[in-house]
Amino acid sequence: MNKQWNGLLFDLDGVLVDTAKYHFLAWKQLADRLGIPFTLKDNERLKGVSRMASFEIILEIGGRSMTQEEKEACCAEKNAIYVEYLKKLREDELFPGVRDFMEDARKKGYKTALGSASKNSMMILERLGITDLFDAIIDGTKVSAAKPDPEVFTAGARELGLRNEECIVFEDAVAGVEAAHRGGMAAVGIGTREALPKAEIVIPGLNGYHIEDITRLLAESGV
Ligand code: BG6
Ligand code: MG
Repeated sequence: MNKQWNGLLFDLDGVLVDTAKYHFLAWKQLADRLGIPFTLKDNERLKGVSRMASFEIILEIGGRSMTQEEKEACCAEKNAIYVEYLKKLREDELFPGVRDFMEDARKKGYKTALGSASKNSMMILERLGITDLFDAIIDGTKVSAAKPDPEVFTAGARELGLRNEECIVFEDAVAGVEAAHRGGMAAVGIGTREALPKAEIVIPGLNGYHIEDITRLLAESGV
């Protein structure tokens, strides 16, 4: 018998919207000021990682160290630059198919939650006009443990009133896939199989998919 899925938990950056490019531009501006070389390839390492952990990776790339206070000032500086980009975020920057996929799944009775590390989640959801597509919103302001800790997803399932095993996580980051698994949930990778080797299934994006395609692919993968 096929498994009964009732909850869908979505990462934000890289799953619903391409904010990675703005994170990159903001980190790059800070790194340039600090004289630390920072490339798009380096930026891949920051996906799904918290703001402070991201900066620590940049310091490691530059072979530099700072006091906690200095690090916090740099993170605040980066966030101020990032927020300026977010103020200009347009509704059409929502990835294609996201709204249709979520509205269709909700009509079919699935509960939806956001599970994002970002402390800017609410602003992004509002700019994209999709706040009302979620029954629960768990973000970096509500949980302290960063992915791959499962807290952001287990808190989402709890707020939806569901067991972890009833939930499917949509993730573009390795740390997020691991968080889903540690929470006892199935992970749908958004991206490539190469980048997300551990996800149960991988799709390039939500565009063109319906929830029943996802549950069928999960069943075929043996979940
Ligand atoms: C994640 C992003 O969703 O949020 C990371 O993938 C980012 O790149 C993290 O560092 C924290 O975001 P913010 O908006 O709180 O700095
Ligand atoms: Mg992400």
